[in-house]
Amino acid sequence: MSQAFEQFSLTGKTALVTGASSGIGQAQSLALAKAGASVVLVGRREAALNDTLGAINAISGNAFVLPHDLHDRTTFDVLSAKAVAFTGQVDIVINAAGVNYREAAADISIDSWDQTINLNLSVPFFLAREFVAGMQQRGWGRIINIASLQTERAFTNGMAYGASKGGIGQVTRAMAESWSANGITCNAIAPGFFPTGLTAPVFEQADLTEKLAAQTAIGRNGELADLDGVTVFLAAPASNYITGQILYVDGGFTAK
Ligand SMILES: NC(=O)c1ccc[n+]([C@@H]2O[C@H](COP(=O)([O-])OP(=O)(O)OC[C@H]3O[C@@H](n4cnc5c(N)ncnc54)[C@H](OP(=O)(O)O)[C@@H]3O)[C@@H](O)[C@H]2O)c1
Repeated sequence: MSQAFEQFSLTGKTALVTGASSGIGQAQSLALAKAGASVVLVGRREAALNDTLGAINAISGNAFVLPHDLHDRTTFDVLSAKAVAFTGQVDIVINAAGVNYREAAADISIDSWDQTINLNLSVPFFLAREFVAGMQQRGWGRIINIASLQTERAFTNGMAYGASKGGIGQVTRAMAESWSANGITCNAIAPGFFPTGLTAPVFEQADLTEKLAAQTAIGRNGELADLDGVTVFLAAPASNYITGQILYVDGGFTAK
């Protein structure tokens, strides 16, 4: 392999991906495995995590299933110990688990607000922090959060989700400020509209789907494969000097 391509290799690296049972986290898990990483797959649904494992095994990749409900942040020491037992260490954390309840402001309950803020904003910080000491000792690490168009735009029924995604943008910068002196880069990917379980209520509406595609510069909504390259790039040595950034992968939605 030439030196240029070695910069994009994840051979010998280990990753933990939340939300690995579906959608973006599942696609990212496969992309990391294709680039050579061993991947710990986290989510609640064990059968769906096993589907991701099967897809990774089918390309001769290496992965481990770790079912866990992330809502209880007091259990993250147990989660991190299990992950390290699988892979020896965790070099890369991708926080892809998330929810969007799409409630009108008047309908938001205390419980749905708290769940959204917890999973989308609090969990990425507390979970990533579990792995920071090990990354600091080795002088290398990657934390990749998943932001959103709502990190900088207000959408209908986006009060709680927008708050969580605005917050994750700032947490990403604060993580970089706290941890990047030790070789740990902390960035966020902000996807446009990608068809997953989370966006099913959007993609079920043909008119809305077309309208959103027309709002991009490229002229279409996202496909999960559009996230492969950016995921590997931000996880790999190629991005050594990039930290505290939010990278919009939105076909130019926010450029217009
Ligand atoms: N799709 C898009 O267009 C889009 C755009 C911008 C940002 N995003 C963000 O991308 C991330 C992934 O979303 P997605 O679109 O891929 O949706 P998705 O397919 O619904 O995936 C959500 C994931 O979160 C996991 N999850 C939910 N609650 C959990 C819990 N309590 N504990 C552990 N895992 C939990 C789910 O796994 P289990 O059900 O197995 O627990 C699932 O794997 C989210 O942060 C979302 O906000 C998506």
